Amino acid sequence: MSDETIVIRQASLADIPALRAMQALSARRLCVPAYTPRQVESFIAHGTMDESVVEDGTFFLAAAGDVVVGSAGWSTRVPGYAARTPGIAALAAAGRPRVRSVFVHPDWARRGIARRLMHTAEGAASACGHRAIELAATLSGVPLYRALGYATRPMERIRLPDGVALEVVPMTKELMRAAA
Ligand SMILES: CC(C)(COP(=O)(O)OP(=O)(O)OC[C@H]1O[C@@H](n2cnc3c(N)ncnc32)[C@H](O)[C@@H]1OP(=O)(O)O)[C@@H](O)C(=O)NCCC(=O)NCCS
Repeated sequence: MSDETIVIRQASLADIPALRAMQALSARRLCVPAYTPRQVESFIAHGTMDESVVEDGTFFLAAAGDVVVGSAGWSTRVPGYAARTPGIAALAAAGRPRVRSVFVHPDWARRGIARRLMHTAEGAASACGHRAIELAATLSGVPLYRALGYATRPMERIRLPDGVALEVVPMTKELMRAAA
């Protein structure tokens, strides 16, 4: 299937099993060698999509026919992993819009799918009146966000609910520039 036939659409609750499977596959293939297998499994268990963001209608997927090949969304909710982990909530305070759960199927990487999904998520946040957006990038995600104009802050080491440490890079972007 060619890249032109990829459709970006709002995700629904029915998409959740396929989204979770794609996100796990993506992490296992594309988050190495930045992270160890233990970190990757912890990230899959605790750091991937929150269903509440799908319920809110602010989560999007890329589909190639029936196959889910990417995901991204935005939310002002505290990410589930942060809410469950003492000390991280300050890093991910409620009320500020954050990019959530950007993953691309490994067989579909480097074809501009994440760029398209991010454009959709940023546009949706901007349409709700937000003028800036932030995220906690995995080390494997940093080149994407840099390419999209996000500014980096110093790397942080967060601890997931199972005690596994994960290095992430807080990043921010003015959405006025995204809309220009
Ligand atoms: C990060 C990720 C979402 C990128 O998805 P993608 O669809 O391959 O990205 P795109 O094709 O839209 O890339 C857009 C631009 O970002 C940059 N980029 C993306 N992936 C990159 C990589 N692995 N190395 C260097 N630059 C990269 C490039 O500038 C690229 O433009 P180019 O291909 O014209 O050079 C994907 O690798 C992934 O799912 N990784 C595992 C999960 C993860 O870490 N997600 C981030 C969570 S915060």
